[in-house]
Amino acid sequence: MNNGIEPAIIAKGVAKTYEKKVQALKGMDLTVNKGEVFTILGPNGAGKTTFLRILCTQLMPTAGEAHILGDSVINDPEAVRKNIAMVPQDAMAYANFTPWDYAYYFCLLRGMDKATSKAKAEEAIKAMLMWDKKDTPCQSMSGGEKRRALIAATLASDAPVMMLDEPTSGLDAIGRRNVWSALRDRAAQGKTIILTTHMMDEAEMVSDRLAIMSKGQLITIGTTAEIKKKVPFRYRVIVPEEEIDKSKFSEITKIGDRLVIYLKTDEEAIELVRDMIKKGVQAEAAPVTLEDAFVRLAGEVLE
Ligand SMILES: Nc1ncnc2c1ncn2[C@@H]1O[C@H](COP(=O)(O)OP(=O)(O)O)[C@@H](O)[C@H]1O
Ligand SMILES: [Mg+2]
Repeated sequence: MNNGIEPAIIAKGVAKTYEKKVQALKGMDLTVNKGEVFTILGPNGAGKTTFLRILCTQLMPTAGEAHILGDSVINDPEAVRKNIAMVPQDAMAYANFTPWDYAYYFCLLRGMDKATSKAKAEEAIKAMLMWDKKDTPCQSMSGGEKRRALIAATLASDAPVMMLDEPTSGLDAIGRRNVWSALRDRAAQGKTIILTTHMMDEAEMVSDRLAIMSKGQLITIGTTAEIKKKVPFRYRVIVPEEEIDKSKFSEITKIGDRLVIYLKTDEEAIELVRDMIKKGVQAEAAPVTLEDAFVRLAGEVLE
């Protein structure tokens, strides 16, 4: 295909209405390319889990269609399942299973021979820094360790498309980085990764591209840099409300007694910081964050 970019996941108009008319998804259109780490970023209740459950054939959409490596999640779920491995959001680790059991038997179940299963399990458990706990039953592990054991099993699967629903929730800073690193390594080997998160810094750190969603709707899709360019400002300065003449600025967010002032140019940002310093107020200009862009774009789309 063009530029060597090939789609792995194509979703068109994917919608889901649960019982009692809860519209969890209002029509999702997106394409994830092969070898990409793609993040669905959105607040709690946005519809992230619903979307991933449809992609992994656990749930039927009420409208729309999705294909994974050419197979329809609606018409050919069995074919889809051969190509995917999933870490569900609420996955519970079986009490008596060890990380080794999870990874090794998962590989055998997927049809690998014993030697390959052993090699894949070892590599994935080591990547999750769980080798010293490989024979410890999950019941005597912490929540974060159980989570890493489940992630290791999915990494070991060698599936061309891996789906992870909030993989890092409950992990500490080192555990999180380690998961990001493992996901990026897999993508570099040509695997396609789709994950969800509500954490902006995670989306920024791990993704090649991301989709921001809120209330069942896509807000925007792109690289972090592309998304930041979609808002009409580049810098932010945080100031105490009483120090500012608000009428002088067009983009302001109020956070209690503080204001975040958004500015278009270096000059405007420097001028504001200078004014503040003259008044003896600590202030600094920083580039806009993904969170700034999200809040602004979500406000625009949802209104
Ligand atoms: N089984 C269900 N039945 C009814 N409503 C549901 C069900 N699962 C999720 N929802 C609702 O759908 C919306 C999206 O949920 P979900 O996909 O879990 O969001 P997220 O994963 O982004 O937090 C929420 O309003 C949630 O309450
Ligand atoms: Mg969820």
